[in-house]
Amino acid sequence: MSGGDARLPRVFVGRQIPEDGLRPIVDACDATVWREELPPPRDRLLDAVAGCDGILTLLTDRVDDELLDASGPQLRVVSNYAVGFDNIDVPACTRRGIPVGNTPGVLTETTADLAFALLMAAARRLPEGDRYVRAGRWRTWGPMLLLGSDVHGGTIGIVGFGRIGQALARRAHGFGMTILYHDVNRLPEDVSAPLGARYVELDELLARSDFVSLHVNLTPETRHMINAASLGRMKPSAVLVNTSRGPVVDQPALFEALRDGVIAAAALDVTDPEPIAADDPLLSVDNCLVVPHIASASRATRGKMAEIAAANLLAGIRGERLPTPVNPEVYDRPGTAS
Ligand code: DGY
Repeated sequence: MSGGDARLPRVFVGRQIPEDGLRPIVDACDATVWREELPPPRDRLLDAVAGCDGILTLLTDRVDDELLDASGPQLRVVSNYAVGFDNIDVPACTRRGIPVGNTPGVLTETTADLAFALLMAAARRLPEGDRYVRAGRWRTWGPMLLLGSDVHGGTIGIVGFGRIGQALARRAHGFGMTILYHDVNRLPEDVSAPLGARYVELDELLARSDFVSLHVNLTPETRHMINAASLGRMKPSAVLVNTSRGPVVDQPALFEALRDGVIAAAALDVTDPEPIAADDPLLSVDNCLVVPHIASASRATRGKMAEIAAANLLAGIRGERLPTPVNPEVYDRPGTAS
């Protein structure tokens, strides 16, 4: 950790983020930056935020009443370096008049790229092919070797049709796919029609799709939304892609479905817990591809996320409205700066 000038606003930055965001923070604040690879252990985090005016958190840092108490009444802003904010008890922040920022928009296309890459990799069994070659098993061209599913012309079911779900639909459209979506909010025709996307109920989406891709927020309603029953509604040839949050999928149920051929394959950017345990049964089946929560991990996008997270942090410290608040209702409170 590193300290600085005590006359400046005090902030804690929960990890080393790209310079595009870190530099303006360090220039303007007395910043303590947690520079280790692993997140701060809880006791160290609670110590580090004490007396801070602002905190820049990552999705691995839980922000709740305990942390807000540990920080103290001077805390003016929590800026999350992610678009998702299920690590933050937003109502607890709102009750205290603390705005919370996230990083929407800039990671939409990059995340949709990875979702489509996972879909293609699982459909065409790329990780299995790579393991096959590295194991020295490639002896000849084989008519029946590693047969997968066509992506072009298939049916994709997108669960959660916000920014990222729609960006995935644009990619699927280019591959001539039939696009079904399900969301708590049905989109106006002028938004869904140009994407060629049609609203259906979740059960119909699961039953008709060759590829099911998850793009919902993690809430009590979406936790284990994909479970043994929903997997049982999918086609035996179907591929499940998850770039949302791990707990949206009941992982033991997914393992059983993959092992028993209930569905053909899964490709996961997110797991429950993270990191996935080395002895998790999912890692023992060939038809499950897992990558370590890297959907937004392009250099350019991580830089833009850092810029937005810094802008939110610095605006909050100055008592200005955050560029991208997740709890704008905080500004409705009497006497709150906006
Ligand atoms: C997010 O932003 O919520 C992603 O999960 C990490 O980029």
